[in-house]
Amino acid sequence: MTIREGLQHGKENGLAVEHLVKRFGPLVAVDDVSFSVAPGEFFSLLGPSGSGKTTTLRIIGGLTVPDEGEVYLGGERITYWPPEKRDVNIVFQNYALFPHLTVFENVAFGPRRRGWPERKIREEVTRFLKMVHLEGYEGKYPRQLSGGEKQRVALIRALIMHPKVLLLDEPLGALDLKIRQELQLELIRIQEEVGITFIYVTHDQGEALTMADRIAVMNRGKILQIGDPKTIYEQPVNRFVAHFIGNTNFFEGQVVKVEGGMALVDVPGLAQIWGVPVGEVRAGLPASVSVRPEKMYISRHPPKGGSFNVLQGIVEDMIYTGVSTEFIVRLPTGQQVRVFAQNISKDAEIWKITWDEKVWVYWRPDRSLVFVE
Ligand SMILES: Nc1ncnc2c1ncn2[C@@H]1O[C@H](COP(=O)(O)OP(=O)(O)OP(=O)(O)O)[C@@H](O)[C@H]1O
Ligand SMILES: [Mg+2]
Repeated sequence: MTIREGLQHGKENGLAVEHLVKRFGPLVAVDDVSFSVAPGEFFSLLGPSGSGKTTTLRIIGGLTVPDEGEVYLGGERITYWPPEKRDVNIVFQNYALFPHLTVFENVAFGPRRRGWPERKIREEVTRFLKMVHLEGYEGKYPRQLSGGEKQRVALIRALIMHPKVLLLDEPLGALDLKIRQELQLELIRIQEEVGITFIYVTHDQGEALTMADRIAVMNRGKILQIGDPKTIYEQPVNRFVAHFIGNTNFFEGQVVKVEGGMALVDVPGLAQIWGVPVGEVRAGLPASVSVRPEKMYISRHPPKGGSFNVLQGIVEDMIYTGVSTEFIVRLPTGQQVRVFAQNISKDAEIWKITWDEKVWVYWRPDRSLVFVE
């Protein structure tokens, strides 16, 4: 789908934002942001602190009015509608439960205001509490809950109203790693079960890769790339995205030539490295070559035959993690590279590598990317 078709689709069925701009004085917090989200999609806004994620979410939720641009939901233009008129709900990082109400009454709050019959309220609250494994918690107060439990309550309190779109602003951000990972999986399951569109804000790239159907990477108010996790990881459109998602080694140099769909970059004091050019790569331009640690080989011997980018260095550190070993190799320029090697067999040649040993690091040219921006 092209961006135009996607926007059209979002405009008619799901959610779409078009050319959103929000300024705070001289600062452009949201700078011409457009995307569309299909019904039932799990869409993530990912970016570093201050990139404009929350502001974008607040515009969709109706808590902030944009200076320019439009918001469409289910075929209607809702840009200037008040929050309570929109079929949208928000879950924030800090729970925001009513402290004086029990778990049951917190979840029943929205349905009561809408005047649902008592029996339906009881049934639905029970069903949703079960969904997040909080049966038996009905009578507890928020102060008696752990962070993870509070966040589960906040989540179902929003879900029970069956909004068309649920906006989640770093909902797991305040939780420790183990609980966060548990709830990530739970959220994916619940989202599939209820079929509500999720727009999930996070600055944690691992979280976005694990959870989202599609990710929009933001920086300084702009969307740099929209794509599914695999595309964002394997085909980043610029240096920022390559750096922000996952682990990457970068080599800085200058483009020597572009030939047969590949670019050759001279890295001073190190080597000439081939890679796949991304964007307007031309001879003479300064460039960064990126290569992911898991796409590289490490050996005590140079590669036999085949066409590889080859570097030599000294093993500075080895970190064994069970599934893989991470090698930190220092190159003649002083730069370090990280190489991940899968732990396939305990007899492998790779186990003979030790600290301070001279090694070869090499990879296929089509595994590295050349960026000029
Ligand atoms: N009400 C406001 N008044 C002035 N500046 C604001 C306001 N809200 C946000 N900003 C600024 O706009 C920029 C984007 O803020 P936003 O909260 O959208 O970022 P974010 O991507 O959600 O960051 P974080 O990951 O830290 O939550 C920031 O530079 C922020 O300081
Ligand atoms: Mg934020």
